[in-house]
Amino acid sequence: MKEQTLAIIKPDGVARKLIGAVISKMETQGLTIKAMKLIRMTKEQAKGFYKVHEGKPFFESLTDFMSSGPCVVMVLEGEDAISRYRKLMGATDYRKAEPGTIRREYATDIEKNVVHGSDSPESAAFEIGYFFNALEIVTY
Ligand code: CMP
Repeated sequence: MKEQTLAIIKPDGVARKLIGAVISKMETQGLTIKAMKLIRMTKEQAKGFYKVHEGKPFFESLTDFMSSGPCVVMVLEGEDAISRYRKLMGATDYRKAEPGTIRREYATDIEKNVVHGSDSPESAAFEIGYFFNALEIVTY
């Protein structure tokens, strides 16, 4: 089934000039970019985005990190895009990620793990709407 998912190249990935390498992997895996922009979240915006993690021990540090520099936010589309992209990212903990995945190749830390991707159709709908309006998602 054709789906859309929200992808982020996090501040560590942008700072380390990994945008091109990450996008290359996405395109090679059959994912099409339908929307994309470079943004810098405020701390409040990062807290709103990660509100499902509010109260967890890593919440403050995660939202500090996500507002520490620019991110690339994208809408990716493809067959089973949510699970396809999560497979491509690899496990949250890069030490457990499969070889060839983005996190296994590039992540340095459980928090500074280069990329984010929606984990369900419900979170994809919330996360896409958090950054993009309908006019910014291109039909082609
Ligand atoms: P992400 O896929 O963006 O979803 C939540 C983020 O919290 C996760 O990637 C990590 O960057 C960060 N994080 C930091 N510590 C942990 C942890 N112990 N477990 C899960 N996520 C963590």
